[in-house]
Order: sequence, then C-alpha cells, then structure tokens
Amino acid sequence: MTPPTSARTGIWLIGARGSVATTVVAGCAAVANGLRPPVGMVTLTPPFQDCGLPPLGALVFGGHDVVSCPLPKRAEQLAAQGVLPYDVLAAVQEELAAAEAAIRPGGAVAGDLRDGHELVSRFAEDIVAFQTDNRLARCVVVNVASTEPAPRADDTGMPASSLYAAAALWAGAAYVNFTPSTGLHHPALSGAYKVPVAGRDGKTGQTLLRSVLGPMFAQRALAVRSWSGTNLLGGGDGAALADPAAAAAKNAGKERVLADTLGTAPEGQVHIDDVPSMGEWKTAWDHIAFEGFLGARMVLQTTWQGCDSALAAPLVLDLARLLARAHEIGITGPVPELGFFFKDPDPGAYASLAEQHLALLGLAGRLREGDA
Ligand SMILES: NC(=O)c1ccc[n+]([C@@H]2O[C@H](COP(=O)([O-])OP(=O)(O)OC[C@H]3O[C@@H](n4cnc5c(N)ncnc54)[C@H](O)[C@@H]3O)[C@@H](O)[C@H]2O)c1
Repeated sequence: MTPPTSARTGIWLIGARGSVATTVVAGCAAVANGLRPPVGMVTLTPPFQDCGLPPLGALVFGGHDVVSCPLPKRAEQLAAQGVLPYDVLAAVQEELAAAEAAIRPGGAVAGDLRDGHELVSRFAEDIVAFQTDNRLARCVVVNVASTEPAPRADDTGMPASSLYAAAALWAGAAYVNFTPSTGLHHPALSGAYKVPVAGRDGKTGQTLLRSVLGPMFAQRALAVRSWSGTNLLGGGDGAALADPAAAAAKNAGKERVLADTLGTAPEGQVHIDDVPSMGEWKTAWDHIAFEGFLGARMVLQTTWQGCDSALAAPLVLDLARLLARAHEIGITGPVPELGFFFKDPDPGAYASLAEQHLALLGLAGRLREGDA
C-alpha cells in the first residue's frame, strides 16, 4: 500500500480573487488550523481516510485573476456579507496574504494585444514558476472564474477558460473546471491527456437536489409532466449570469440532469435572475408536476436557500485533493467517478447522486491502493 503523501500540493485558482476562491483559501486555513470543523467536506469523512490525499495544511494557493482587489480585502467583503465569520477572517490573515502574493495577472483584459499562444505560454509559465518557487510535488489548476457566455458556432479562437486549460496541460498540472465555461471542451484540446482532469460546473444546490429527486420519480414509476425552476442570486455570479448567453451555459447542465435521470427531458425551463441585494445568497425554486396511478395529478415544490460560496468551497478542496492523489498515482484523462461533484459530468459518469456516490467510493478504493 502506498503511504499517504505529505508533500506540498499547489492549488492554482483561475478567478483567484472571486467569492468561491476567497472562501476556499480562508476556509482551508480555518479547518486546517482547527478553527472550524470540516462540515461539507466529503474527503474528510471516513471512507476517504488513508487514501493518501494531501492534508489541508499541505495545500499552497495561488492563481490568476483580472481584477486587483487584494484577497484580504475581498475576504473582508465576504465577512461583511456573513459568508466568513469575523473570528475566522482575523485568524487567517497570514494565509490570505500568502495566497495574494502568489496571484498573477490573468487575461485577456481590454487592450491586451497578446494572441492565444502568448497567453497560454504566459499562464503556463506562471503555474510552473509557482510550483518551482514553492517546491511543490504537484499542482491542481481549478477554474473558478466568472462563467463565460456559451460558445457560438461562428466563434473563432479559444475562450479564456480554454486558454487556461491548455496552460494547465502544458504545465503538467491536473485540471478541474468548476464552471460551465468551455475549458477542455474546446475541440482543439480534445485528445489523450497526461494528467487527470475533471469537470464541469460544480453541483451545489438546485442541480444537487435534481440529481436526487429525478431518480426517485423514475424509480417509483411516477410520470413527471413538467419540471420548472427559477433562481434568484446576487454576487459576481449573479451579475455574470445576467448575460443570457452565460445563463444558457449554466442552465444546460441543470436541464441535462433531468433528461439523464428521467430518460427524457420534461417540459419546463430554468430561469436565473440577478438580484444584487441578495449578495452571496441564492434562492432556487423547483415546481415539479407529476402524474400517479390512474392519472392522479400531483405537484412537488422545493425551495433551496443557500450560501453559494459556502456550498462550493469545500467541493473545490475535495476535488483538488482527490485529483492531486489521482495525479500522484498516475491516473490520466477524465475521471468520471468525480461526477458526484458536477452538473455536467464527464462521459461515463452516472446521472443519479446515489450511483455517483458509489462510484466515488470506488475511486477512493483505487486511490487507497494506488491503483491507476
Ligand atoms: N458558488 C457556487 O455554488 C457555484 C457552483 C457551481 C459553479 N460555480 C461557478 O464558480 C465560478 C465562480 O463563482 P464566484 O461566485 O466566485 O464568482 P465571482 O464573480 O465572485 O468570481 C469570479 C472571479 O473570476 C475572475 N475572472 C473573470 N474573468 C477572468 C479571467 N479571464 N481570468 C481570470 N479571472 C477571471 C473575476 O475577476 C472574479 O474575481 C462561476 O463561474 C460560477 O458559476 C459556483
């Protein structure tokens, strides 16, 4: 059996000054230092013990962003909104400052004349320098940048998310796409990867619920007639998703889980409304009309009220730890067993949460045995 690694592992966050990234850095320090229990972290539950995952205290953070607001300032804003407790904010200043020092300018910003190749080289050099400077055993790049508009058929060139994904591959880093943006799904990036990769779009709220309820209706032979959903959210994510093209990228994943679990896409749509005053909080309603025995008509309605970054950050840490270990033992390419974490999982992943969880436990066994 391979002994657990204690080597320092890099987490390179694309969108390093965003809400999710800031909560990842602050939350990791808070849990590693024993300030808070690891609520919401799947990889700190018993089935993942002895799997050789890097401990939280061995994670080193850096990343790219296109805004300049320093991470400690960003964390203050999240504390003012109630996402980060003030005692945690005070206790993790050193870790926030260390991550801030490792953030490099992202792209492309307005007026940037560099072409795609130049940007990929720059990003990859930044990731390699981060690994070298911090004497890291390996690095996992995680995309938590603003959602991009869904690609159009006439798009030429690569979106930023794909440039970053290419840079991760070039730098030999494992890669996670926590957003619905294109990332590795660009045709120019298809092929055999030498590192483990996983995506896309973290499953933290409405879709998490759908991946449980969809299989329930199918297994009880109840006929779903329609499934409609509405989301109200604020924060940077709410602002980005106010763009209908970006919302389309997000909603595709939310609707796909229904088609995959019910066998056919039901009537109904998902809407996302930007409500800036809600800040980091999100409300998601689902209205499910279904038919029972002898055509009896019934309805299930659900309300999910969540703090987006608090839901997402532990999953980012889970994914980074799992992929770091997968990288260490030589797993390459998409890891469908990580479908548990995503709205739009890699081919080969199950659609229902229960089956996804069993697959994840199977992966834990492989990681424990060092079986690539
Ligand atoms: N919070 C959740 O529950 C959840 C769930 C699934 C997916 N996501 C996704 O995670 C992402 C981050 O969410 P958030 O709430 O932190 O958003 P946010 O707006 O707070 O942060 C996004 C960050 O990305 C940066 N950015 C934008 N373009 C960039 C570029 N080209 N290069 C580098 N950085 C860039 C922005 O400057 C910002 O700091 C979004 O795409 C969101 O859809 C979040």
